[in-house]
Amino acid sequence: MSKITAAITGVHGYLPETVVTNHDLAKMVDTTDEWILSRTGISERRIMKNGASSDMAAEAVKGLLAKKGLSPLDIELVILATVTPDYPFPSTANVVCDKVGMTNAWGFDLKAACSGFIFALETGTKFITSGTHKRVIVIGVDMMSSIIDYEDRATCVIFGDGAGAVLLEPNEEGLGVIDAVLKTDGSGRKYLIQPAGGSANPPTIKTVENRDHFVKQEGKAVFKFAVTNMADVSAEIMERNNLTSETVDWLVPHQANLRIIDATAERMGLSKDKVMVNIQKYGNTTAGTLPLCLWDWEKQLKKGDNVVLSAFGGGFTWGAIYLKWAYNS
Ligand code: UT7
Repeated sequence: MSKITAAITGVHGYLPETVVTNHDLAKMVDTTDEWILSRTGISERRIMKNGASSDMAAEAVKGLLAKKGLSPLDIELVILATVTPDYPFPSTANVVCDKVGMTNAWGFDLKAACSGFIFALETGTKFITSGTHKRVIVIGVDMMSSIIDYEDRATCVIFGDGAGAVLLEPNEEGLGVIDAVLKTDGSGRKYLIQPAGGSANPPTIKTVENRDHFVKQEGKAVFKFAVTNMADVSAEIMERNNLTSETVDWLVPHQANLRIIDATAERMGLSKDKVMVNIQKYGNTTAGTLPLCLWDWEKQLKKGDNVVLSAFGGGFTWGAIYLKWAYNS
């Protein structure tokens, strides 16, 4: 019997309708379109005006199921990566299962910030390769607008809202997830954190007054770690799998900053046409960036393509996944 791998067999996304341009932000904080574009590569981002993370995720899943001709009842497990859950509990995966009607599925949330999607993809892979599950949905979703301080020009220009979902199924042709290198370093929490609202710092009037429920980031420090670690881990997964700049067909990088993406691609020796970049349209949607890239590029991806997904984010968390794309669309 041939070895079972876990393959992505479909992808769909959801982006809220409301577009916030750099010019819009320049009316709210002391910034310019030129600064944002040249420092980050971002021109605009989407913001969810009404609704929650679960609403974006549910739309992405509904689109995915429709595309695959599946019933919500066919899904066995939902793993949802987010740092902006609807509630501290119950999990947003539970809410999404309810909203979509996936009543045969169990599910849970996974928190790894911008690396959430690759951590969740590797977790879902294990449920497929162990043989216990045949249809797993992995979601990356974040409604960053719910935790961003729109008075802080250093963070509010970077983030946006969005969701992407993939279906994982068993594959016997050797396609799908081949390898993963995942890392964490909790000492990085001092540079990128939402300080209040958890057990370390429960909500009080003071935490609200201090604006401690918003994302706090030391951008320069995070940038340095991100540039080095995302490039290192991408090079590591290439070496481990004997991949070269010729044999890698696509880099799917976390969309945090175009300069970080360019540095990673350069380290891997990849030309720009192999690198998925949509940061200009959506900004940094945290756990949403990677599945949203796969959704945008789905038609160009070909069966057998060597794809490297790479991310770095809060925690710190970072890592890379090597997979062989499993279908032509
Ligand atoms: O996805 C999760 C992981 N996060 C990341 O990977 C983000 C990594 N960091 C970054 O992408 C960049 O550090 C930022 C885009 C956040 C900031 O860019 P930077 O080039 O590192 O700027 P900086 O923080 O070093 O600030 C440079 C200057 C400062 O002014 P002074 O002190 O030199 O006078 C800032 O106050 O730019 C100023 N500044 C701004 N100016 C105009 C910061 N934000 C803005 C702004 N508009 N929006």
